[in-house]
Amino acid sequence: MEYQIKNPKVSIIIPTYNESNNIIEILKQIKNSIPKNIISETIVVDDNSPDGTGRIVEEYIKNFKKITNHTIDIIHRTAKTGLSSAIFNGIQEAKGETIIVMDADHSHPPQIIPKMIESLKKSHCDIVIASRYVKGGQIKDWTISRKMISKIATKIAKLFLNIEPKDPMSGFFAFKKNILKNSKFDLLGYKILLEMLVKTKNVKIMEIPYTFTDRKIGQSKLDSQIILDYIKSIWKLYRFGKNVKTNNKKYTNFVSKAARFYTIGATGLLVNLLSSFLIVTGIPDVWYIHANLFGIASSISSNFILNKFWTFEDKDFSKKKTVVQFSKFATFSTLGAVIQLGMVFYLTETQNMPYYLSLILAVMTGAFGNFILNKKYTFKEKLLE
Ligand code: GDD
Ligand code: MN
Repeated sequence: MEYQIKNPKVSIIIPTYNESNNIIEILKQIKNSIPKNIISETIVVDDNSPDGTGRIVEEYIKNFKKITNHTIDIIHRTAKTGLSSAIFNGIQEAKGETIIVMDADHSHPPQIIPKMIESLKKSHCDIVIASRYVKGGQIKDWTISRKMISKIATKIAKLFLNIEPKDPMSGFFAFKKNILKNSKFDLLGYKILLEMLVKTKNVKIMEIPYTFTDRKIGQSKLDSQIILDYIKSIWKLYRFGKNVKTNNKKYTNFVSKAARFYTIGATGLLVNLLSSFLIVTGIPDVWYIHANLFGIASSISSNFILNKFWTFEDKDFSKKKTVVQFSKFATFSTLGAVIQLGMVFYLTETQNMPYYLSLILAVMTGAFGNFILNKKYTFKEKLLE
């Protein structure tokens, strides 16, 4: 643009889709919030909004007072191709070494921008997340159910991806541009911060509280497609994370451990069948119930050893510890079986649920309970890590 200032220090990226009634006000507030001695630019990334957001910003830029330390720019994209990719386009065009990303709909208060810039500088960190979920942060005007969905989605992300921040799904954050240098991004869906948290290495992160206020004008663009993209991206990032070493040590998280636990569970079935079968055919006149008991005992034992070694990565097989762990493991296995039986009976008899459905539910509950109990009490790990 003709009146560009050279080398802005801070670039603010604002993705827009149908924000004609919000964008000018937020641009004004941003300009007024940034300390006057900092050279900065705001870049709006518009996806050809049908309501004319792009045109309105163009007009505003024409009349924007040029003798300040702040410029405004707009990138016009031809179609709505996703929030993450819009933000990424903005980042690519940005000239600042500090980048701030925020929404146009007044959910994110620009008044805390100075604090974000300050924190990046003073605390020597690389990413500052404006957070709803640290002490002092909150959400205004969201329904209980939207709050719950957000909490659950956050929990899922943390379990799958092994990330520290309390609000990894925030759409309001600041970072040093150079941390993106060596990473390749998929840019699926809504959550570019989440992808950054997974794909950048050795970055220091800080969270500062803010109050998220639901938009007064226009609609959220979050729809079922975006939720689907979210699930896909969590899966992709999970696969990515599995193949990457963090702090030189491969980290096995909650989900990988659950997967191992159930793989072993499946092998346990085989061990059970095979050993029962061996006894029945190998020992003449053996009572089949004894053979089955032997099968159950062998599968519990093999499950225990494999889980100790592989799932929970506990290589300490000293006698006392192993015996204590084994008795807990066997108790939980029995408990799981009892709960399963009780549940199948209850659901089928009193809730009129079809047998196959109650069986699936009961097996899943039993298996999950089993995993959780063993993780916490047998192998003494934190539950959600
Ligand atoms: N260019 C572009 N393209 N902009 C988009 C698109 C798109 O496909 N989809 C949404 N936007 C813009 C909106 O115009 C708005 O400025 C911002 O992105 C956020 O969109 P909303 O539709 O208002 O999202 P939300 O309020 O449901 O969710 C926001 O808040 C969450 C909690 O902080 C987002 O910022 C999420 O990323 C965030 O997790
Ligand atoms: Mn919003």
